[in-house]
Amino acid sequence: MAQTLACLRGWHVGLAQAELVALFPATKFEELSPRLMLTNQQPAKELQQSLSCSSGIQCFLRDVELINYPKQNQTTLLEKVSGVLEKFPMRGSLAVRYLRIAGRIDGVSTKSLAGEIGSLAVSHGYSINLNDPEYEIGLIADGMSNTIVCGWLIGDFDDSIGTATRRATERPFFRPISLDPRLARLAVNLAGGPIDENAILDPMTGTGGFAMEAITMGRNCLAIDMNEDMIFGAKQNIDWALQDNDVKSNFQMSVGDACNLVESIPTMWHGKISGVVLDPPYGRNSHGTHGHFELISNTIESARKIVSDNAKLVLIIPIKPNKDNDELELLHGEWDNFKQMMVSSGAEIINQWQEHVHASLSRLILLASISPQD
Ligand SMILES: C[S@@+](CC[C@H](N)C(=O)[O-])C[C@H]1O[C@@H](n2cnc3c(N)ncnc32)[C@H](O)[C@@H]1O
Repeated sequence: MAQTLACLRGWHVGLAQAELVALFPATKFEELSPRLMLTNQQPAKELQQSLSCSSGIQCFLRDVELINYPKQNQTTLLEKVSGVLEKFPMRGSLAVRYLRIAGRIDGVSTKSLAGEIGSLAVSHGYSINLNDPEYEIGLIADGMSNTIVCGWLIGDFDDSIGTATRRATERPFFRPISLDPRLARLAVNLAGGPIDENAILDPMTGTGGFAMEAITMGRNCLAIDMNEDMIFGAKQNIDWALQDNDVKSNFQMSVGDACNLVESIPTMWHGKISGVVLDPPYGRNSHGTHGHFELISNTIESARKIVSDNAKLVLIIPIKPNKDNDELELLHGEWDNFKQMMVSSGAEIINQWQEHVHASLSRLILLASISPQD
C-alpha cells in the first residue's frame, strides 16, 4: 500500500509531532525517527492545505519507498523507486531534491544518490529541470535511524517557516509580550485541529499574536482584550498581516473580559468555538483585579460556557528553565497548586511541553481538554 511520510521541522520536535496529530486526527502515524512520521493511510487531499497552515511540518513525501541502511543497500532503494516511477507515470520535467537530517549516514552520499534517482527518472522518460520542474522527488537521509526515504515531494526542504515574514518586531504594533509566530501558529493548530467552520478564541489577545496566525491560515477567530489600546494595535497588526493574503475567514476583535465570555463573545458563536489559546499576563496580579491562577481559572470556567464539545485549550505560562528534568517550577506560584486549579476549573491536561526562551526563562505549553458546561 502506498505510504505517505511527514518530515517535521527540527525547532521543537515534540510540538511538531503533536501538531501533526492535531491536524490529522483520523490518521495513524508511525514514528520512523522523531522527525519522520509515516502513515499507510492516504490523507492526500488535505496535505497541501495542512502544510500551508502548519508550523512544524516541513514537507510530505507521497508514494514513499524507504530502506534502512546498511541492512538494505542503495540499489534496493533504486529498484523500489523505479517501481514507483513505473506505477505512477507522470511524464514531464522533474527535479530530485535531497535533505540530510540528524547527521550523516556513514557510507551514503545523499547528493550522489539523488543524482542516480535523477538518471533513473530520465530512463523512465522524464526530463530534468532543477529550476521550474513539474514534479519533484524528495530524498531524505536520516542519520539517527539510518533510514533513507524517497517519494513525491509536497512542499519543499526549506527549513525556514513562512511565518518569518510576520516576525513580531516587524509588525506595526509590537510589545515585548508579542508571541513569536512560529509558536503562536503551532498553538492555534494544537487547539483547533483541522480547519473547519468553528472558531478559535483568543481571550487575551494582546498584540494579536495567536489571532494573526489563525486568521492568515483561514480560520474563523474571535479575539478580545480588556485593554482598548491592545485591541487598537492588534487590529493594525491584522490589517498588516492580511495585506497580501486573500484568505477568507470570519474574525471579530473587540474589547472584552476573558472572565465574562458569555457577554464578550457574540451569541452566534456560542457552542462554535473548538479551540481556545491563552497567553495570560505574567505576574501575580493582572490589572489589579485577579491573582494569576484566579485569572486563568476564571477564564477557563468562562470559556467552558461557550465552547463546543471536545474543545481544546492551549495555555502558555512562564517557568524556570529546567535543565535536569526536575519537577517543574513555575515563575509565579506552585506547580501542584496550578494543576489543582486546572482540575477544579474543568480542564484536563492532555500533554505538556517546554520551550527554552533564555537563560532565566522557559515556557510551558499545556494542551488540555475543556468540556462545555451550562
Ligand atoms: C501576555 S499578554 C498576551 C500577549 C499576546 N499573546 C501577544 O501575542 O501579544 C496578556 C494580555 O491579557 C490581557 N488581559 C489581562 N486580563 C484580561 C482579562 N480579564 N480579559 C481580557 N484580557 C485580559 C492584557 O491586557 C494583555 O494584553
